[in-house]
Amino acid sequence: MYNSKITGLGYYLPENVVTNDDLSKIMDTNDEWIQERTGIKKRRWIDPKSGDTTSTMGAKASEIAIKRSGLNKEDIDFIIFATLSPDMYFPGGGVRVQDMLGMPTIGALDVRNQCSGFIYSLSVADQFIKTGMYKNILVIGSENHSGGLEKSTRGRGVTVIFGDGAGAAVVSRSKEKNKGILSSHLHSEGKHARELMLDGPNTGRWVPEILEDNDPNDESYYPYMNGQFVFKNAVVRFSEVINEGLKANELEKDDIDLLIPHQANLRIAQFIQRKFQLSDEKVYNNIMNYGNTTAASIIIALTEAWEQGKIKDNDLVVLAAFGAGFTWGSVIIRW
Ligand code: UT7
Repeated sequence: MYNSKITGLGYYLPENVVTNDDLSKIMDTNDEWIQERTGIKKRRWIDPKSGDTTSTMGAKASEIAIKRSGLNKEDIDFIIFATLSPDMYFPGGGVRVQDMLGMPTIGALDVRNQCSGFIYSLSVADQFIKTGMYKNILVIGSENHSGGLEKSTRGRGVTVIFGDGAGAAVVSRSKEKNKGILSSHLHSEGKHARELMLDGPNTGRWVPEILEDNDPNDESYYPYMNGQFVFKNAVVRFSEVINEGLKANELEKDDIDLLIPHQANLRIAQFIQRKFQLSDEKVYNNIMNYGNTTAASIIIALTEAWEQGKIKDNDLVVLAAFGAGFTWGSVIIRW
């Protein structure tokens, strides 16, 4: 029986910083509202002239993660790419990274689970390693939100929240007992699919129909979020799925050394922190600097926390996410 552990971490952020004040110049919003409701001070948005895309950012983060793992590209035997904003409708980002990094013709899988995409991807990598099928899996979360946001007052409830960026982890086979990924728990509740979504274009309303309608006020091509409803569900599901992971491993909340919640809203993270009675040092947040980067948020935060020496050998690290679908999940790691 094998275990899987994270052997390399990396992230890449586009250079272009967009502050709350910058946003207030293009829509009716302000720094006070954004900080009070979300905790966000600034985010990165790709400069269209830079050439950054979801795939190129994923590839750059991957190069760092592979280098830090001490492996070569040829040692990676599978790619998992989580995103809701692929460069093109199809194919997905995994095959693009395989090509950009000049990797052998290994398998590449795209995961479309939005904010919980990285949690789902880690879980899939863990299962492939535990069955003995693969030895080293590259797991990527990357998003280019800015290209698809509605940058006007009508879109402000969503647009001020989201940022661009990418992170990657190498997950490798290990024979160390009780170390590495201890468990993952995944959930969904599709009846709430329309509470947080991007409706168009879709296969029920395809391009000819869109062109025929030619409606400049059509909102269906921008993300929609029923913010308060999502918030209320998020706080409940985050707590449930963290408890589920702890219980499955016969652990208590006091055993947590570091919690990295998906960076959806600082108020959600603070609610969970209070609920689990964790000190500030035991929760890592970076939404202030990057906004919500969806599938990239946990892996960027995990990499930063590791770079800052906040994760030590044997620490219990808890990752948890909730988002569109709804989907949610947790991964518990003994570092
Ligand atoms: O990562 C995926 C999961 N996502 C989440 O977990 C997000 C969960 N939800 C949230 O984080 C919060 O609901 C938001 C941050 C999205 C919104 O905060 P809220 O406290 O729920 O505000 P609200 O949507 O109830 O809006 C309150 C008011 C409204 O005005 P009225 O109707 O009270 O006059 C909005 O029109 O704030 C207005 N508003 C804004 N004002 C200034 C909405 N967006 C903005 C804005 N700037 N950007």
